[in-house]
Amino acid sequence: MDYLVLVNQLHAMPEDWYEDLKTDRFINTAGEEVEIESRTFHAYTELKKELKEKGIEIDADSGLRSMELQQQIMDDFTKEFGAGYAAKTVAPAGYSEHQTGLAVDLYPIIDGQNVMSNAELLKHPELWVVIHACLAGHGFILRYPEGKEHITGYGYEPWHVRFIGDPAEAGFIMAEGLTLEEYLLGRQQPDVMSVPGVSALYSREEQQEMSVLIKCSFASRAGIRLQQIRYKGDEAVRQLSVPGYQSLAVFAAEYITAGSCESEDFLLGYSPYGWEIISQE
Ligand code: DAL
Ligand code: ZN
Repeated sequence: MDYLVLVNQLHAMPEDWYEDLKTDRFINTAGEEVEIESRTFHAYTELKKELKEKGIEIDADSGLRSMELQQQIMDDFTKEFGAGYAAKTVAPAGYSEHQTGLAVDLYPIIDGQNVMSNAELLKHPELWVVIHACLAGHGFILRYPEGKEHITGYGYEPWHVRFIGDPAEAGFIMAEGLTLEEYLLGRQQPDVMSVPGVSALYSREEQQEMSVLIKCSFASRAGIRLQQIRYKGDEAVRQLSVPGYQSLAVFAAEYITAGSCESEDFLLGYSPYGWEIISQE
């Protein structure tokens, strides 16, 4: 089980994921059945226990989702809130980490009431501060932090936590305020990137207007000249028809032809969304 698996708008669920997935089921305080990957479930139980000792009662209203359920949620949100809100809030079917069983949506129980709607959940920042501070100790991270929408593709979701297995790694991610995308980027390219957490994607609107999508300040380190980069995300992009990306693939090809970028501030580099540095000077 790869507890660091990256599933986001451009990384679909691994096809063989269910071969060795083991889960646990329970009934939450709203009477709903929730299924979670087994190690994640045990970590969640410990998190819940710790929070109870701190005077905060939580439960979970969403764990493992099937392809059909994810599509259903997307359809329901689109109908109720419109396609724009749905796209920023719900992953397309096949691209939700809920489909791995490693993501859990938490909700607090306040004065005996289950607080479950997204709008209500956002009204309790003081609770989330305490909850988030306890996550890493049990191997969880906050998956969609505030201000990282341009990287994760989703708005702030204080309730959506993701089990990554190792409390030390989770502690690093939480302490640095990283997204999983940024953390994995730092691990994959340690020779290129000295400090994790510095790449950024522009917003969808900006993508459509700008030819340069990816700002990688790590690549602006003295002496780095990218010789060759490769765009790996076409397949996923085509499936999702994300606006702007196709033209970026074209941009990358032009960039490679033209040679290195002279900008001191940023060079087009690598992003977990599909760009890879092949060689550098
Ligand atoms: N709410 C998250 C993005 C999901 O649907 O997986
Ligand atoms: Zn979620």
